[in-house]
Parts: sequence; structure tokens; C-alpha cells
Amino acid sequence: MQGTVEDVDVPSVSDVLRRCRELVRPALVDAVGRLHPWTGEMAAYSLGWSDTAGTPEPGGSEGKGVRQALALLGAEAVGADAACGVPGAVAVELVHTFSLLHDDVMDADALRRRRPAVWKAYGTGPAVLAGDALLARAVTGLAETPGHHAAAAVRRLCDALNDLVAGQAEDLRFEHRPWDGPGAVGPEEYRSMAEGKTGALLGCALALGAVLGGAPEPTVAALDRAGRHLGLAFQAVDDILGIWGDPATTGKPVHADLHRGKKTHPVLAALAGGSRAARELGTLLASARPTDAAAERVASLVEEAGGRAATRGEARRHLDAARDALRATPLTRTAARELDVLFAGLADRVM
Ligand code: IPE
Ligand code: MG
Ligand code: MG
Repeated sequence: MQGTVEDVDVPSVSDVLRRCRELVRPALVDAVGRLHPWTGEMAAYSLGWSDTAGTPEPGGSEGKGVRQALALLGAEAVGADAACGVPGAVAVELVHTFSLLHDDVMDADALRRRRPAVWKAYGTGPAVLAGDALLARAVTGLAETPGHHAAAAVRRLCDALNDLVAGQAEDLRFEHRPWDGPGAVGPEEYRSMAEGKTGALLGCALALGAVLGGAPEPTVAALDRAGRHLGLAFQAVDDILGIWGDPATTGKPVHADLHRGKKTHPVLAALAGGSRAARELGTLLASARPTDAAAERVASLVEEAGGRAATRGEARRHLDAARDALRATPLTRTAARELDVLFAGLADRVM
């Protein structure tokens, strides 16, 4: 194996994620341990730590922990110790877990990370409650951060939560909007929905680390912007995986977005192309929500009409914008490099 001197000390994406997970884990375990035992059990299941009987399942279906890593790196990037970012990391992981719990109820998705979604495993009422418990714990924990930054941090988290809820509202409302004509969802509306539902929390994760590390507002704002662009890239990729992803990798069934009439980027971009395939796609989508067989046809027409390629381009543009926002900000060298590795690697996973 050959490598340049520069390569030698550049960690891999999984190294960065593992280091951050290990630093956050005790505080996250402590936070979940403060929940009511029943909501705590559902939270532990949802985090991939245990099965439905409460038996530990180490590492089985855990998420990558991207948000907690962003919070720690946000603190390190502004010259603070990673430990300063831990309360922010815990808060964003708990909020992320809450949002997935409720999202699966809203989207009627029965599978998450190859296992029954919490609402399928425990019932809808309990799942809603477990989400509420996680959210309340996230805000409480952040408000209890020692030092002078707790109030500013809670404020940022609440702003992101409001954006996330607004994005989810748009996502649900768009299901009932037509695919074309005057009521169709435009590119700006899609962007605002995706930035809200996915970008706001990723931006908040990075920004919270910087706030807790005592960074000046322009730096915090730049990190928030970088995270929001990363989120838009993520969502574009998530939209692609919802149509062409392998369920063995994504851990959820394919075509669920098509069945529900979700206004995803590949379909919107395909329809905007105006080709013959786009017209056929428009007619097919206008007739009814696609059944299993029709969804295959929809997927091929979206591809033929250029929707998949356009969405890859969209993901690439947002990823570049995210990395540019980082490069334009004065950050400590090592953390900036780790963030760059993380941003590039996360997108590479699927492009
Ligand atoms: C999820 O959006 C956004 C939040 C959880 C806030 P999606 O519904 O598009 O994501 P997946 O595909 O279920 O993960
Ligand atoms: Mg969903
Ligand atoms: Mg959703």
C-alpha cells in the first residue's frame, strides 16, 4: 500500500465516528437511564442497544452517530475540548432518535434499520410517548450544561426543532399535492422542506458544538450553514435510496415513498425535464398512487427522464457547498480535516 505523508495521519470516516461515539456513550447512557423505565426501554431499542425484551444487543442496529460526531467536532473545530461538545452531542442524538420514532409513525413505515419500527414493536401510543420522552430529555440535559452557554445552546436546539417540525409538516402536506399543474411542488418548496426536516438538525449539531466551545456568532453561523448543506445532500441521497436502494443495506423497504406520494427530488426533477419519459411518468402518477408493479415502472421512467442523475448532481452541489462553507471559516486544523473526511465519506457511501 502506498500513501503520501499527508495520508498517514488522516483518519477514516469510521475512525472519526468511533472516536466520537466512545466519547459520547457514557453521557448518552446516563441520559437514557434518566427516562421512565418503559420509555427508556423503547429508547434503548430505538438506539439499537437492546431488543424488545430489553436484552442488550451491542452494536446490532445502532445508527452511525453522525450528529454526535458533528457536535464534538464543532467544539474541537473552534479550539475547545471535545468534552465541551458532549452535552450538545447527547441532545442532538436524542432529538434525532425522537424524530425517527415519530417519523415512522407519520410515514407508516414498519421497518427501521432492519428491525420493526418502535410503533410496530410497542404500539403507536407508546412510540409517540417514547419520542416525547426523548425530546424532553434532550432539552433538559442541554439546559443543565455547566458554564455560560446553556441558554444559547437551548435556543439553537429549539430553533432547529421548529424548523424540523415545519419541514415534516411540509413533507406530509406535499403527499396530497398534485405532481404537475399549478398546485405542483416547486424546487424551492422541496428545498425548504428538505432543509427543515433533515438539514436543520445537522446544522444544529455542528453549531451547538461551536456554541458550547464559546465560538463567535459568525463561526457558529458558518458551521450551521455547512451542516444544513450536508443535510440537503443527505436527503437527496435518502430520496435516491428510497427508490433504488437495496433493502438489505438501507434496512427499510424500497418504494415506500412512491406508494405514499412523497414528493422526492428524483421524481420532481424527472417531471421537470419535459422528455417523453417525463410525460409518460406524469400520466402514470396522475392516474393513481403506484402499486408494487407500477412502482417499478415509475422508477425506470424517473431514471430514464434523468431524475436519478439530477438528484446525484444536487447531492454533489450541496456537499461541495458544505465543504466550501467549512473551508471559508477559521477552524482548528485537525478538526477541520476530520470534518472534511466525514463530509466526503458520508456522501461517497452512496454516490
Ligand atoms: C425523516 O425524513 C426526517 C426526520 C426524521 C425528521 P424521511 O421520512 O424522508 O426519512 P426516512 O427515509 O424515513 O429515514
Ligand atoms: Mg420516513
Ligand atoms: Mg418522513
